[in-house]
Formats: sequence, C-alpha cells, structure tokens
Amino acid sequence: MFIKMPEYEIWVKEGIFSEIQQMIKTVKHNPSIFIVTDENVYALYEDLVKKSLGSYKFEFVVIKPGELSKSIDIYISVVKSLIDKKIKRDDLIISFGGGVVGDLCGFVAATLYRGIDYIQVPTTLLSQVDSSIGSKVAIDIEEGKNLIGSFYPPKGVIIDPLFLNTLPEDEYANGLAEVLKAGLIGNKKLFHHLLTENKIGEAEIIEAILVKRDIVLIDPYDHKERMFLNFGHTFGHAIEKAHQYRTYKHGEAISYGMLIAIELGIKWQKTDPTLYDEVKRILLRLNLVKEPLLAYKDYLNYIWSDKKNLQDGLRFVVISKPGHPELLTLNEGDF
Ligand SMILES: NC(=O)c1ccc[n+]([C@@H]2O[C@H](COP(=O)([O-])OP(=O)(O)OC[C@H]3O[C@@H](n4cnc5c(N)ncnc54)[C@H](O)[C@@H]3O)[C@@H](O)[C@H]2O)c1
Repeated sequence: MFIKMPEYEIWVKEGIFSEIQQMIKTVKHNPSIFIVTDENVYALYEDLVKKSLGSYKFEFVVIKPGELSKSIDIYISVVKSLIDKKIKRDDLIISFGGGVVGDLCGFVAATLYRGIDYIQVPTTLLSQVDSSIGSKVAIDIEEGKNLIGSFYPPKGVIIDPLFLNTLPEDEYANGLAEVLKAGLIGNKKLFHHLLTENKIGEAEIIEAILVKRDIVLIDPYDHKERMFLNFGHTFGHAIEKAHQYRTYKHGEAISYGMLIAIELGIKWQKTDPTLYDEVKRILLRLNLVKEPLLAYKDYLNYIWSDKKNLQDGLRFVVISKPGHPELLTLNEGDF
C-alpha cells in the first residue's frame, strides 16, 4: 500500500523493509547512508539492516533508548558523530526506531548543514501510526517537551508491521492508545475494532495513518484541524508533566486524558454519554488506565500554567461521537 503525501510516499506492508533499496533509489543516486537508531533496535535489527542495504555504503549512529535522548546534548552528540563520520550535504539519513529516534533524527536532518534528506523507518506502533506521519520533528528542553523543533518532511516513510513482533507489550499498548484516539476523532470502524480486539493488523495501521494523513493535509501547520489530533492530549500532557514524565507512559497519560475529555464533553452536553463507559472498558482491558481514575481537577493548574496552550483561551478537543471532533476555546470558568 502506498499512501501519498504532497512531498513523499508512505509505504506500508509486512516485510516492506527488505525493499528499502528501492525507496533509496527513488530518493537519490548512490548516497552514503547514515542510520540513526537506539541500542534496543540496533541489537535486534543490525543484521537485517546490513542485509537489506546490500552494497550501499552505510554507518550507524546508536543512541541510548528513551525520552531522555531527545535532548540538546544528544542532538549535539549525534551531529558531531555524523560530521566525524564525514557526512555530506547530499548524503542520506535513515531514522530507524521509535518516535524518540524519529523526532531527534528528523531534527538533526532538518538542521545539520541546513537540511539533509532523510527516510523514516518507524519501529514502534506509536511511531508507525503517529509520530512518523506529519513531518513534525523536535527535541525536549527543561521547560517542556518538543519545544525546539520544526516541520521537516522526510523523503519517504517505510512502515513494516513485522517490526512490531519484537515490541514489548506495554509499548504496544502505548501505540494502541493513539490508534484509539485516531478511531475516536476520525474512524468509527477503528473504534469498533478496539471494542473487542487487543491487536491490530496492517489494515488497521493503514486506517489509523489515513486519519492522521487526512487531517494533516487539511492543516499541515497546526492552525485548526490538526489540533483534533490533540484529543486527550491537553490533560494527557498535564498528567505526564505533573508526574515528571516518570509515572505514566505517554499512551497511559493520554488514555486518562481521553476519558477526561469525554467526561467534560458530557458535562458540556457535547458528547454522547454512552461513549464514556465504552472507552473506559477498552482502556481498562488494554491496561492503559487503572481505577481509581485520575481526577481532572488535580491537573487544571498544569494546564493553565502551560503558556503554549493558551492564545485567546484554551483550545480543547471534544467529540460528539466517534468520527466527529470539535475544537472549543475555553476559559478557566468553563471547568
Ligand atoms: N512527531 C510527532 O508528530 C510525534 C507524535 C507523537 C509522539 N511523538 C514522540 O514520540 C516519542 C515516543 O515514541 P515511542 O513511543 O515510539 O517511544 P520510543 O522511541 O522511546 O520507543 C519505545 C521503546 O521501544 C523500543 N523499540 C523500538 N522499536 C522496537 C522494536 N521493534 N522492538 C522492540 N523494541 C523496540 C525502544 O528502544 C524504546 O525502548 C515521544 O518523544 C513523543 O513526543 C512525536
């Protein structure tokens, strides 16, 4: 399956990674290749990468796994390492890993020598259905996540669901939270799939990508419709921050955030009240939330102190029913 973006294609198929040489050929003639990955992915897939790249000249840059690698220090160390390995402006970078590697490596590609071509090969469920789509690249600073970044489209994205076979269960569930979000904001069928199933296949991965693709095409730079993708993220980010990014994984935090958004949507008579129990049942079954659930009142301070959220009020996404999102502008009194 080839999904078209304005500047590049997303290839999705089981086993497609072994065809990476074909994508490289569509991008440039005989480049030297620099693969940025993390230690876990390197340990699992070094041999496969070597085999799949055939006679191309390539080098690895391997970082530590985890969110802490999306830092200025690691950004500088990757840049230095690439320069040390004699990368040139017309070479090719491949980001090979989850969303951390994708965001960091994409930002390196966007900025080193004012831009080097890169291909994204996402290897977690979250990165396959979410972070590798839509061209946002970023690193974190002490003041907050993703505060330094850019929109920098890759030359192509290769999504091979076979990589998910080695993903730990909790990381898989983390990605399912974003799949559920995609279902709730843009695809009723995807939502119904998760009502009974704990796994998704290639077909559902494609459906989730299409939800994000269609939204990004309408609003690439986050002015209006792209904010629908923030469903569950307003409180999700506040929960992550309040607990110093340690207690809850991103998928867990946005799962509580989605339930809060539904609870508030019902309170404001925007959301079908039957949705709350259905979504709660899915999230409990996937171990993404636990009872007692988190109370939104405990996180309001974090929301109103996050200046990034506020323009003429707080932009907040509710849904009336699966597939029908709405953007509200709220003030403190609305809660
Ligand atoms: N750019 C965007 O639009 C966007 C959107 C959503 C999230 N993000 C970012 O994505 C990041 C989270 O991404 P993530 O959830 O993929 O986390 P991650 O990159 O930290 O990966 C999670 C873990 O899975 C391991 N892993 C990766 N692939 C594996 C595989 N195939 N088999 C076994 N282990 C594997 C990694 O080594 C890591 O330990 C966050 O930094 C978030 O801000 C970006």
